[in-house]
Amino acid sequence: MSRTPGRGDADDGERERPRVAALVPAAGRGERLAASVPKAMHLVAGEPMLVHSVRTLAASKVDLIVVAAPPALVLEVEQVLERCHQGAQLLVVAGGDSRSQSVRNALAVLPDSVEIVLVHDAARPLVPRVLVDSVVDAVSAGAEAVVPGLPMADTAKEVDAMGRVVRTLDREKLRLIQTPQGFRRDLLDAANAGGASEGDATDDAGHVERLGKHVLVVQGSAEAFKVTAPWDLRLAEALLAQRHLVG
Ligand code: CTP
Ligand code: MG
Repeated sequence: MSRTPGRGDADDGERERPRVAALVPAAGRGERLAASVPKAMHLVAGEPMLVHSVRTLAASKVDLIVVAAPPALVLEVEQVLERCHQGAQLLVVAGGDSRSQSVRNALAVLPDSVEIVLVHDAARPLVPRVLVDSVVDAVSAGAEAVVPGLPMADTAKEVDAMGRVVRTLDREKLRLIQTPQGFRRDLLDAANAGGASEGDATDDAGHVERLGKHVLVVQGSAEAFKVTAPWDLRLAEALLAQRHLVG
């Protein structure tokens, strides 16, 4: 593990004793992207994908960012992020074989002062800062677990192993769930203890639901989409180019 203080943080008590942390699982291989480097290091608009969300998290209400990097790339990731986390402390740890293990590795290095923990996929580089802050605010206001969700535009059907439709689901009751997901720290610790988080959950709230806790859905953002396949990469490139023109 390595530790890089945020610039200008030396006299800042808030930053010395961080209250809000964001864990960033970034250790996946990106097999569906089929690129030559791990997905988090794949260039989007000329910078590694991971840089974009770390910059946004550092500009938000987050005090500490913990990145779970591909184990062979911990130093490289640290170098890449060196100048991108102004406003927040940064730690880089080695990720694990599954997303859940990467989250647990990051959770293990949190200082005691942290009360609110966000988990944000490195693969969602365009997440807006207002979405990050709205998740922090919802946990601060008393929710134990918070996820961003979007209504579905398409019809959803349940199918069997043969590809036959079993039933049509009520779209009004469904939400597509994104990250960052936010938790009271004690709850996320409990959800990840004692094998409760076995299996490779694609979202962290799933572990919390298994503990019988309530999970609140806040309004998500189309921009928080996950880069999974080459098409998503083209979309991210186009949107970042547009932001650049507007900004
Ligand atoms: N992740 C991780 N550790 C793993 C697997 C995934 O930290 N062992 C992270 C990824 O880096 C990504 C997030 O979890 O930021 C969401 O996972 P996904 O989109 O599935 O990314 P990959 O696992 O890299 O992609 P693929 O499944 O196509 O290989
Ligand atoms: Mg994966």
